[in-house]
Amino acid sequence: MKFFLTEEQKAVRDAARDFARTELLPGAIERDSKMIHPTEQLKKMGELGFLGMMVDPKYGGGGMDTISYVLAMEEISKVDNSCSVAMSVNNSLVCWGLEEYGTEEQKQKYLPKLATGEWIGAFCLSEPEAGSDATSQRTTAEDKGDYYLLNGVKNWITNGGTSQLHIVIAQTDKSKGSHGINAFLVETSWDGVQIGPKEDKLGIRASDTHSIMYQDVKVPKENRIGDDGFGFKYAMKVLAGGRIGIAAQALGIAAGAYELAVAYANERTAFGKPISHHQAIAFKLADMATEIEAARMLVYRAAALKDAGQDYNVASAMAKLKASQVAMNVSTEAVQVHGGYGYVKEYHVERLMRDAKITQIYEGTSEIQKIVISRAVTKGQLQLPT
Ligand code: CAA
Repeated sequence: MKFFLTEEQKAVRDAARDFARTELLPGAIERDSKMIHPTEQLKKMGELGFLGMMVDPKYGGGGMDTISYVLAMEEISKVDNSCSVAMSVNNSLVCWGLEEYGTEEQKQKYLPKLATGEWIGAFCLSEPEAGSDATSQRTTAEDKGDYYLLNGVKNWITNGGTSQLHIVIAQTDKSKGSHGINAFLVETSWDGVQIGPKEDKLGIRASDTHSIMYQDVKVPKENRIGDDGFGFKYAMKVLAGGRIGIAAQALGIAAGAYELAVAYANERTAFGKPISHHQAIAFKLADMATEIEAARMLVYRAAALKDAGQDYNVASAMAKLKASQVAMNVSTEAVQVHGGYGYVKEYHVERLMRDAKITQIYEGTSEIQKIVISRAVTKGQLQLPT
């Protein structure tokens, strides 16, 4: 497996880096502290192609590979994770699944809007009592002939307040367990879709996370994705790709915090020299750099497997597990390197530390990633890199 980037991939990374520094960095602290949704920033990201990077150009997307997507996610996540989570959900949980498993009519109707950011998508799986245990869906979609009647409540929905399209996972036949679940394309302008209040969160505070209520929403039959009963497998397949995006976000948080720590340690003097020349700090920076590279290899490997058409389910779980641990550890150490300055909101590093925590929770907690990995371990299905 190669880990060298092509000229095109480097150009995508550089463009994302420039965009993040010029367009996202100014105002990021204020948006975070006041919970201001980055509406304008996401609009620009859509215009520049960051919201539908892997979508086929015939549906208005960038036609790029997963490595390019991961590189862009990493650069944007160094700066603004409220933007990068919206980017990740739209690219991988919404556009990718629709393009892979949707009908031609569904793709033509929705992908051009989603890929350009004209519409934003949300993925509605979690419920008040169905988080990690995703088969216990209580939201129901009753088959009424030419439509389904959707009723239920979803929780923690990223892009919940600003999206025009929801992919809703709901139970259609409880007696069939995970085989009685379907995925539906639901437009938020339809009667019966109600948006709950915005959550006040520890991190990614500018992103809009809401609960959503569906009350007697009529979903046309043609808006079901895949064959009857495919919804749970659909959610699992989509999340396997989504976890690569969140792993890249975690990698970006770690790398962003590390870059701030190095710059600060080279500038700040104590006892007559820059603190980076004191071994206590220099060794911290060495550990941080090494951990980031270890996480990077797992993230790029998962993306490369996906691009090569190979199984990436376990690779993405490993990438997310490791990168989110590294994000938490490195951002905490980066705050430590900054001393008191790291603890105040005027500096970006404390925001990255708060943002890091969610990468261990959403799109499957670290414990869920260990379930996915350990099941493969016990079945003797772990693949070595080829
Ligand atoms: N690909 C394809 N099929 C899969 C699959 C995968 N990755 N994982 C499971 N399946 C299939 C199984 O093969 C099985 O099919 P059969 O019955 O035909 O054999 C079926 O799905 C049921 O699988 P399990 O028995 O393994 O199901 P389980 O109840 O034990 O759950 C789990 C497995 C991995 C724990 C799963 O429930 C899970 O991933 N939970 C976490 C959910 C999650 O990530 N939620 C995040 C919410 S979304 C979010 O955060 C988005 C946001 O806004 C940022």
